[in-house]
Amino acid sequence: MPRHAPRFASLPVYPLAHIPARKRELLQRGVDVIDLGAGDADLAPPAAAVEVLQRAAATNAMSRYGFGLGHVPYREAISAWMQRRFGVACDPLQEVVPLIGSKEGLAHIAFAYLGPGDVAVIPEPAYQAYLGGTLLSDATPSIYPLRPRNGFLIDPDELPPDTASKVRVIYLNYPNNPTTAIAPTEYLERVVRWCRERDALLVYDNAYSELAFDGYVPPSIFEIDGARDVAIEFHSLSKTYNMTGWRCGWAVASPPISAALARIKTFVDTGTYMGIQAAGVAAIESWEHFVPGNVATFRERRDAAVTAFRSAGFAVESPAATMYLWIPLPEGMASKTFADRLMEDEGVIVMPGSGFGAGGEGFFRISFIVPPERLREAAVRAGRVLAAALAGA
Ligand SMILES: Cc1ncc(COP(=O)(O)O)c(C=O)c1O
Repeated sequence: MPRHAPRFASLPVYPLAHIPARKRELLQRGVDVIDLGAGDADLAPPAAAVEVLQRAAATNAMSRYGFGLGHVPYREAISAWMQRRFGVACDPLQEVVPLIGSKEGLAHIAFAYLGPGDVAVIPEPAYQAYLGGTLLSDATPSIYPLRPRNGFLIDPDELPPDTASKVRVIYLNYPNNPTTAIAPTEYLERVVRWCRERDALLVYDNAYSELAFDGYVPPSIFEIDGARDVAIEFHSLSKTYNMTGWRCGWAVASPPISAALARIKTFVDTGTYMGIQAAGVAAIESWEHFVPGNVATFRERRDAAVTAFRSAGFAVESPAATMYLWIPLPEGMASKTFADRLMEDEGVIVMPGSGFGAGGEGFFRISFIVPPERLREAAVRAGRVLAAALAGA
């Protein structure tokens, strides 16, 4: 039997691996399952993107390799949008890296900047690609728990000096999945300064930049002075345009940092299908008439979920951004026990905080991926499980 490499063994077992199979069994038994697990909404992508993809499928030139360069109008649309949306100028050829979804880029960037003995600061709970890239680069993760006491922010000044001196990469994601936290400008300025003082790479995951409510407008890290020297920012069509399965995103960074990621990618992939990049242009160009309505749908879902989960007995705050609620459980109630019971007894699938690592314990996450009436029904069922657990049943 061929032996695995040590780095393979270092990858944690995905704690929620049992959920898809269990969901199928429940559905087969006729249970009315409400799945609020993944950040994967039931809403339609922009019609213009679908039309372009349909046409692209019948165009031979689109079927050829995209390679690293990809479909140049996609780079140009990204560059123009970064300017319009954030006032950030980036050269379409030198400073934009098209990605097969932002996840692969978030993981692959580590290969260019991390190696044995290096430390990457990784929030917990967090999206798994940060840990994956770090471990696959044989580097050492320094796990930083995101808790209410620190506003779900990483404070790099709290790192022990012997860790801080080895930090090569720090991962930040605001608006944050799963905690829904947002980052104040002064905080981002402090982290940029910290990275500049140490020549550390700031990997800024901005997947939820377009999913914000009540007048909050998430920034680009490049709006912060000095960020260009140390940061790479990741964006995605997935959440903004309901295009999760299309696998299309991008990174923006100064030429040396972009080139490093692009170089890694020449060894591991050959780019997203160009028809999807062409559809990506249509999506990005539909921003003005697509995004506000889409955000309004999510806001309606957020409001329904917040009201319903509060009435069901949960102390939940209304998030300023993202498609999630990060809901605290009563002291001592294990999130996996709660989530398993909610799935088994009531057919509602949520993400237990511990599924994002020990730092997520004490919370569970729901996604606004179904209409308000289903969110309300899920909250009623969750309230029953909460009440039974509190009653010791
Ligand atoms: C914080 C965060 N970053 C990145 C991604 C990945 O998005 P993509 O579909 O572009 O790979 C997700 C998806 O859930 C996410 O939650």
